[in-house]
Amino acid sequence: MPEQWTLTLRLYRQKANEAPRYDTFTLQVNPDEYVLDAVERVWAFHDRSLCFRHACHHSTCGACGMRVNGVEKLTCITPLRAVTQNGAVLTIEPLRNFPIVSDLVVDMGDLYRKMERVNARAVLPVTEAEIEHPASTWNPEDAQYLRLSDCLECGLCISACPVAATTAAYLGPAPLAAIQDQGMRRHPELLPLADSEDGVWRCHSAFECTAVCPSFVDPARRIMDLRRQVVGAKLRQVFGK
Ligand code: SF4
Ligand code: FES
Repeated sequence: MPEQWTLTLRLYRQKANEAPRYDTFTLQVNPDEYVLDAVERVWAFHDRSLCFRHACHHSTCGACGMRVNGVEKLTCITPLRAVTQNGAVLTIEPLRNFPIVSDLVVDMGDLYRKMERVNARAVLPVTEAEIEHPASTWNPEDAQYLRLSDCLECGLCISACPVAATTAAYLGPAPLAAIQDQGMRRHPELLPLADSEDGVWRCHSAFECTAVCPSFVDPARRIMDLRRQVVGAKLRQVFGK
């Protein structure tokens, strides 16, 4: 017989222009289930109007990011046992620093557009011929096909970033990490963006992004390395190669 807990989920709710509120739901759960399972159970058995994002359920799509008791988590791989205890109240809120669409769903468009600005597109335009014969047309060296290694575009790093909370113009952890991944030597066209006032120097080195990243991208370390790359590129501009 699997272990059973009684848990109260306290969920952030907000539709259209309504004032935000919290709704509570008491559930019987197996503590080895994931936070996303508990949210889905609320939707399935208590309130079909609850909005939340999910797709793969195995930490690949990056859709299920939420704040769990105030900490950014990929909810499909966060066991209830790791974040709460029997009889407790578990508060679940949408990611910060993104506009709220409905309840736990935020508009991630700003992150996707910033990733495109740094050549790391989340979605690629491909033709039928490219799908049929990818080897003949796919050029991994082509800048428009570059992705940030291991990044799920989940937005957890943006939500946790104290600088992103103060200015929407800041490029943010994942886009800056994507520039670092490509390298200033191979992509000098990205230097003005990295070196801009909303680029690498605006980071306050809080390392909150690295603390919450579920995919070990380590954006904070990459931003520190990008600073070194930017200084090197500017020195090369002054003194030549
Ligand atoms: S860097 Fe990490 S936290 Fe940020 S979007 Fe990518 S996977 Fe998510
Ligand atoms: S549902 Fe895809 S990463 Fe969680």
